[in-house]
Amino acid sequence: MAFEFSEENKPTLENLIKCYPIKEAAMLPALHLAQQQNGYITEEVMACVAEVLEVSIMKVKDVVTFYPMFFEEPVGKYVIRICHTLPCALRDCKKVLDHLKEKLDVDVASERDLSKGTTSDRRFTLMKSECLASCDVAPVVMINDDLYKNLTPEKVDEVLDSLD
Ligand code: FES
Repeated sequence: MAFEFSEENKPTLENLIKCYPIKEAAMLPALHLAQQQNGYITEEVMACVAEVLEVSIMKVKDVVTFYPMFFEEPVGKYVIRICHTLPCALRDCKKVLDHLKEKLDVDVASERDLSKGTTSDRRFTLMKSECLASCDVAPVVMINDDLYKNLTPEKVDEVLDSLD
């Protein structure tokens, strides 16, 4: 099914494009906006973004497949990214990860298979992440756009319970 930016998002997109000297430079924010609206990036979304930014679909696909923040298949309402880089590993992020896997009853999503990290009710998707630039408060987890620091299994429970 063809994708179009919603009436609400069209002016936002136009304003974003105006911030850049050329339309193509608005690729990342345009894709974020599209993903926010659609939940994930389909071929139809890429075609729409390509048309709006006057670039080829291949150029859009290159960007979508390069950045791990863009999803090409459905994900949960909350995407949980747990950092597993060395400073977080040294602060026992594995304990937090194991707790999340057990609590959510999922495996860790891979780039090629997001479904294995997604709960059956599509509430959560669990993914590993490289350094989230908060090593001083490791271990950390990012849930959608929010960062949670100094985590323990108990704190993870509190955080998950606080989500609507
Ligand atoms: S290593 Fe985890 S935030 Fe930097």
